[in-house]
Amino acid sequence: MRTHVADHPLVAHKLTALRDERTDSPTFRRLVDELVTLLAYEATRDVRTVPARITTPVAPTTGVRLAAPKPLVVPILRAGLGMLDGMVRLLPTAEVGFLGMIRDESTLKASTYATRLPEDLSGRQCYVLDPMLATGGTLVAALTFLLDRGADDITAICLLAAPEGLAVLDQAFGSSSVPVSVVTAGLDEGLNELGYIVPGLGDAGDRLYGVV
Ligand code: URA
Repeated sequence: MRTHVADHPLVAHKLTALRDERTDSPTFRRLVDELVTLLAYEATRDVRTVPARITTPVAPTTGVRLAAPKPLVVPILRAGLGMLDGMVRLLPTAEVGFLGMIRDESTLKASTYATRLPEDLSGRQCYVLDPMLATGGTLVAALTFLLDRGADDITAICLLAAPEGLAVLDQAFGSSSVPVSVVTAGLDEGLNELGYIVPGLGDAGDRLYGVV
């Protein structure tokens, strides 16, 4: 499994503001949006393209355009929704599917409560949006769901990752024949007893949308 931790001063700067407990929801949402666009640039490094013949005002030339089928962006509800605009800004022609996952706070186990995805994902490159890779339970369940539908290349984009979650993902998909990658803005120290990433940024869903 490929893991890429974005190493860029602008990412680090925005991530620091995001972590700060004094950052209010509107600012938090704007920072997530900006960070995701930066991460999307890294995450789409291997997006498939095909040659495209065009003519500039000066001469004919060969460039590239995105290959069919279109990439699929899958925000994990609810907090992944806060990452969607930043992602589709960079990939406006991508299709968007939705996966609702909920984590039981006592067992930390993830289960699916809503799906809106194509039945057949064969040949699709999928970009999964989930801000916090903590225990890895949610992402393992989400990626398994996509693989079962035939996805043949998956990149998870996470604002923060914990080593425990990365290890769980690597255990689940490290020897998979389908390439699985994680792109994150920061690799943190670990998890606390409640399953929160430390130092982290708290509950990403609550900070994006308030406590409901
Ligand atoms: N989910 C969050 O929103 N924050 C964490 O730190 C861990 C899981």
